[in-house]
Amino acid sequence: MKILSIESSCDETAAAVVENGRNILSSVVATQVEEHKLYGGVVPEIASRRHCEAINGVVAEALKQAALSFDGIDAIAVTYAPGLIGALLVGVNFAKGLSMATGLPLIPVHHLRSHIASNYPAHPELEPPFLCLVVSGGHSHIVEVTEYTVMKVIGKTRDDAAGEAFDKAARTMGMPYPGGIHLDKAAEDGDPDAFRLPRPKVEGAPYDFSFSGLKTAVINQIHNASQKGEVLPVNDLSASFRKAVVESLMENFIKAAEVLGYHKLVLAGGVSANSLLRRRLEQECQRRHWQCYYPPLNLCGDNAAMVGAQGYYEYLAGHTASASLNAKPTQNIELG
Ligand code: KG4
Ligand code: ZN
Repeated sequence: MKILSIESSCDETAAAVVENGRNILSSVVATQVEEHKLYGGVVPEIASRRHCEAINGVVAEALKQAALSFDGIDAIAVTYAPGLIGALLVGVNFAKGLSMATGLPLIPVHHLRSHIASNYPAHPELEPPFLCLVVSGGHSHIVEVTEYTVMKVIGKTRDDAAGEAFDKAARTMGMPYPGGIHLDKAAEDGDPDAFRLPRPKVEGAPYDFSFSGLKTAVINQIHNASQKGEVLPVNDLSASFRKAVVESLMENFIKAAEVLGYHKLVLAGGVSANSLLRRRLEQECQRRHWQCYYPPLNLCGDNAAMVGAQGYYEYLAGHTASASLNAKPTQNIELG
């Protein structure tokens, strides 16, 4: 089954063709990051406008690269939630229009479910059940994936998402948006024990996260130093901050796996590109003889191939939508 998939939840306009949830026939991503960089973050109104301009060409290019016309497509999948509402609406309405014009079934896909599915094309042997750490710019969840479309959130952030914390710390250090990747690179040449930073815990909720205190601690250190006319070593500060975030994520993730009895651990979301997080997961799983998986770097960030991958399993579970489908800015991953 070949699915044409569309993603427009934030600042990438993307389309792909994916066969049977695993085989990527094409994947096209038009990023708006250069424009949002000017403002230090995503400007929702600009994002919506750029999606409108790009979506027609991006979808046409995905079909062209797959060497297919609509005759060769079996269904249309689209990210419908969560995300920037104006941005999501562009993809949802485009997909609805295509579905109406072609008569093909329409499959609504939850953005975080699709991040989890970004692992399927690269790891043909990966099947649920597994435990997944979903870490993106907007969310940090530990999710039990019992079946492809049956999920339970067992821990989440109480404040900032991991990606958001990376971006805000990076911005204070003068790095361009989105700063996560720059901070990660700077950290590779730094001393992770150079700065003492808090390791926040949420009382009574062993699998929940809190990153806002950590973010504030690093911002305060930078501001205090600059008031004294000092410049802090960016590499050491990046390495110390990255270590604090990754240790906090890993501690809860491993604890949850031990208590719930999962020996198959999966990373997903933009922050799964983080080099220390990938290394630490490998180490912890190797030590315990557990299996671990993370997406290839080109599928960690937002893309439509992951929407086509999850869309296939949503379709098999009977989750299609009518033309009344609407976009939603928030939606629980458990509800799909
Ligand atoms: O999943 P994603 O592409 O978009 C959302 O759904 O939010 O995640 C984007 C987030 C950004 O905060 C970005 O800085 C972060 O992922 N990110 C990283 C790295 N690469 C991307 N954070 C830490 N280390 C990285 N290497
Ligand atoms: Zn995302």
